[in-house]
Amino acid sequence: MQKLKIRGGKPLFGTVSVSGAKNAAVGILPAALMAGGGCVIENLPDIEDVRLFMDIFRKMGADVEFDGTSMNISGEGMRNPKADFELVGRMRASYYLLGSMLGRFGRAEVALPGGCFIGVRPIDLHIKGMEALGATTWLERGVLMAEAPKGLKGADIYLDTVSVGATINIMLAAVWAQGQTIIANAAKEPHVVDVANFLNCIGASVRGAGTDVIRINGGRELRGCSYAIIPDQIEAGTYMIAAAAAGGDVTVRNVIPTHLEAVTAKLMEMGYSVTEGDDGREFYMQVRSDGQRPRGVNVRTLPYPGFPTDLQQPIMALLTRNKDASQVYETIFEDRFKHVPYLCRMGAEISVSGRVATVYGVDGLSGCPVTATDLRAGASLVVAGLMAEGVTAIANVDYIDRGYENIEGKLRSLGADVERTDN
Ligand code: EPZ
Repeated sequence: MQKLKIRGGKPLFGTVSVSGAKNAAVGILPAALMAGGGCVIENLPDIEDVRLFMDIFRKMGADVEFDGTSMNISGEGMRNPKADFELVGRMRASYYLLGSMLGRFGRAEVALPGGCFIGVRPIDLHIKGMEALGATTWLERGVLMAEAPKGLKGADIYLDTVSVGATINIMLAAVWAQGQTIIANAAKEPHVVDVANFLNCIGASVRGAGTDVIRINGGRELRGCSYAIIPDQIEAGTYMIAAAAAGGDVTVRNVIPTHLEAVTAKLMEMGYSVTEGDDGREFYMQVRSDGQRPRGVNVRTLPYPGFPTDLQQPIMALLTRNKDASQVYETIFEDRFKHVPYLCRMGAEISVSGRVATVYGVDGLSGCPVTATDLRAGASLVVAGLMAEGVTAIANVDYIDRGYENIEGKLRSLGADVERTDN
């Protein structure tokens, strides 16, 4: 494991460009394995989850070449729908191989997923969807087995909880099911729409993505295509929050402003200047801050278009200096406050009761050794380190590398004093 060392207290100035969306990439790559011929996927982020998928796909017999931005991927050579147990257990999104392999081969063998420990994170809705389409599923020594020897048949599926993963996984399988599948109470996140757009690009018929009812007419031939991933709204939001926290004037480029409305509104409510613009080639968000303490605000995480749970941890770091007391209500995951003890070690005053954290404002934070416990907890500690007086050493930065491409390079380009060292 490696460390990031940040000497805080320096305002950030300049421009940072956002990479492709992690949570779109991890849905689109397993989908690309379903297309006859090869796909070219552009604007991929060079992050751990993408590289881990490459290893998994190669072990399954796929051809994969990645240059750090574009991937040539073909599942033509695949004969084995079984994913490597150890590799699959290292990420959450490996569960998408369930839908894509079940659809393509009529069988899938995928170890139960790993990923950030922010709650129990069951996959009962994924299984409910596969079984509704006609598959039989069972657990065999930690491996989720699924098979549909007679093929899949379209069904009406209601998701009891809005689930990004279940929505995408069911879409992947449903494109192979004969007839129409309806997913009701579907997730509406931008990455759900991006996966649906990709599926249509390879020849599927997916309608309604971005609303809470998605209709898939399955059984169509799937052929390879070239496709560019959308920008990562969580990475973009993280840099917007970092700019407000450290102070300065930062332009975050290669964004889709509508995907950032919740975090833009919240930063403006806190008293920061956030403006949107475009230079004729791409959209950008500009955040200006004189490092002032934010107004106290309440944050409630909700499915899109609500405030994203993935930015709850980063924005809490900014809130540690708020002028009043703020409540952060995490409605999506039951255990997504593991960053709180480390923020308190840096001088924050936060009390947690169940899913609600109350953040009492302090004048400032002090740098010290801390540890990333999950991806966005790590991002929270980066924001705190940029604000803090002195040096913050963040251990387990490999968690951060799962979702942020070249984080120290991008921060250094904004004037931050940050370096990566071995633990
Ligand atoms: C995806 O996780 C993202 N991960 C998460 O991002 C993100 O926080 C989350 O969606 C919510 O937006 C990927 O896309 C790889 P869910 P996922 O299914 O699919 C419950 C990050 O930091 N649920 O939408 O696991 C679940 O427990 C990561 O980038 C069931 O009960 O999230 C949770 O309470 C962290 N049964 C709620 O639904 C199920 O079968 C939402 O989970 C599935 C989910």
